[in-house]
Amino acid sequence: MGTRFLPATKAMPKEMLPVVDKPLIQYAVEEAQEAGIEEFIFVTGRGKSAIEDHFDRSVELEALLEERDKDHVLEALIGTMPAAGQVSYTRQQSPQGLGHAVWCARHLVGDEPFAVLLADDLIKSDVSCLKQMADAHAEVGGNMVAIMNVPHEHTSRYGVIDPGDNGDRMIQVNGLVEKPAPDVAPSNQAVVGRYILMPDVFGHLSGHEKGAGGEIQLTDALAKMIGSAPFNGYRFDGTRFDCGDKVGFLGANLAFALDRDDLRDGVLEQMAVLRG
Ligand code: G1P
Repeated sequence: MGTRFLPATKAMPKEMLPVVDKPLIQYAVEEAQEAGIEEFIFVTGRGKSAIEDHFDRSVELEALLEERDKDHVLEALIGTMPAAGQVSYTRQQSPQGLGHAVWCARHLVGDEPFAVLLADDLIKSDVSCLKQMADAHAEVGGNMVAIMNVPHEHTSRYGVIDPGDNGDRMIQVNGLVEKPAPDVAPSNQAVVGRYILMPDVFGHLSGHEKGAGGEIQLTDALAKMIGSAPFNGYRFDGTRFDCGDKVGFLGANLAFALDRDDLRDGVLEQMAVLRG
């Protein structure tokens, strides 16, 4: 519900918060597109209709930009927009947890592997994180989650894996726990919001069992799939920003701005002024 960003998110979904000049949700869509994904399902809720408008054509605006020869802006607006029929929406009627949100998409996903991206985990990388995972998944199949090392005292913020055999980037997952306290966490390797999953997960989610925080946790359903198919953690190449947190969100804005030729010098100047 975006409570950490109030009042900004009172009338605007948190997924529409811009990092530099693009909403978080668009970064997620572009990342998925780079991984070859062609159908997008958004699990939204009340008050999130701005997301639907964002991924729709805006005929008047496009005409105006064309008239004013703003071709590059027009390209940014429609260049990566999914085509008609590639986008669908379903609503999670009440906030019952990530597992429940994913379960809400079961009929739209159908009986095939699918990816889940949590838009507030923004990952800056040369090759999109989901593409890195999809390439690895093509070799091993099964279920796959993105992982990264976190400070041990932060395990209670994440899903944490019990690691098995260690490859270069891939690590076998022997167990998964949602938000364990540091003293009981099986490791400090945390799940980041990127998943490639087998559709069997919907069967495990349909029990609606509540886990950590009284919510229906995706992690708990995934834990039940260990042993039935390959289950790997993927240590991606890139930097993850927790955009559900103010400092992480501001860090993402700086990192993405500093990466842009049109903004870097201006931003560095601003920073120099602020540092005095
Ligand atoms: C969710 C998942 C958690 C994962 C995290 C990554 O938690 O439940 O397993 O580690 O995303 O950001 P949330 O941040 O929604 O509490």
